[in-house]
Amino acid sequence: MSTTVITGIGELVTNDPAREGVLGLVTDAAVVIEGDRVAWVGRAAEAPAADVAVDAGGRAVLPGFVDSHSHLVFAGDRAEEFAARMSGTPYAAGGIRTSVAATRAAPDELLLSRAAQLVQEMLRQGTTTVEIKSGYGLTTRDEARSLAVARQLTEHTTFLGAHVVPEEHADDPDAYVELVTGPMLEACAPHARWIDVFCETGAFDVDQARAVLDAGEAAGLRGRLHAGQLGPGPGVRLACERGLLAVDHCTYLEAADVEALRESGTIATLLPGVEFSTSQPYPDARALLDAGVRVALASDCNPGSCFTSSIPLCVALAVREMGMTPAEAVHAVTATAAAALDEDGPRGVGRIVPGRRADLVLLDAPSHVHLAYRPGVPLVAGVWQKGRPVV
Ligand code: NIG
Ligand code: FE
Repeated sequence: MSTTVITGIGELVTNDPAREGVLGLVTDAAVVIEGDRVAWVGRAAEAPAADVAVDAGGRAVLPGFVDSHSHLVFAGDRAEEFAARMSGTPYAAGGIRTSVAATRAAPDELLLSRAAQLVQEMLRQGTTTVEIKSGYGLTTRDEARSLAVARQLTEHTTFLGAHVVPEEHADDPDAYVELVTGPMLEACAPHARWIDVFCETGAFDVDQARAVLDAGEAAGLRGRLHAGQLGPGPGVRLACERGLLAVDHCTYLEAADVEALRESGTIATLLPGVEFSTSQPYPDARALLDAGVRVALASDCNPGSCFTSSIPLCVALAVREMGMTPAEAVHAVTATAAAALDEDGPRGVGRIVPGRRADLVLLDAPSHVHLAYRPGVPLVAGVWQKGRPVV
């Protein structure tokens, strides 16, 4: 098996809990990659020889970013809706239906090529693991083919038939829930690992969300939830009660939600690009962290509420607007985001320690702080995915 040593790493973010600080930083570091795994981590002066040597030139190396929440399978865009929003029209869940119409009309090849382009865009910005949801098909056929497309791009596919009630079921939302939990789930489960519900006024209520999660889990999928995006509601507590790994958005939280998150250990995945792009208030990540809640960050890349694929932008927003330190924000897009996808095990991602998948980002900067300090600057100079240089 071929080996590569990356030496001259000015600052290495390991996220190794056996090392000091939030990020387990090592200075003057080296990493050895063997095949698709991290094989050795330590000081450059002590690094073993390898087949290939790469000099990082004093720059920073981090774990590849994990984007645990995205909606990349869709056609068309909603630039006009965004422009209207910037003149004061509020964001509403109903906009999803615009993307549904475009997605239904698009051939599989187009859905795949557009989603693949977004995955490439993410990779160039350091994202080496991505979760992709369906949710713009909303018929059995269109959800199943959306997931078949997503499956070609990631292992982390999520069935989101319960994104919004489509127009043709507007008169009878419960009949749509029956479709989602019945034939649609049956057609989609083979292509999906996770099941998600948008639990929000204007989408699905808590009883409907429970029914969808029950059915999904019975079919072997694991639950995730969109909750607290447009206002407070029971969704966050539902996620905690069920012991879900993560509940996403959490823009509006009540004290009982924070307590439930802390007690259950359910990760609050915050999506600061959404607040940026909808002009809603940012969630208070500082308060959550201080209360002992685990916080991840993700892009939510989608054509409506947030069309960014940039994890570095999310880091910068979380630091500038949500009270996170740069170290906390970097941890939130690596180790904690990996945990939100159940990928934080010894063979997982999100940390640079021996045995983990060799997913690494080389920054054109001396430290991780520059991700927030230099917003909007393309700082990703190199990416290794499964041990192979891909950028
Ligand atoms: O996560 N909240 C629901 N779904 C997406 C938005 C989808 C859309 O507007 O198209 C979200 O923000
Ligand atoms: Fe989302």
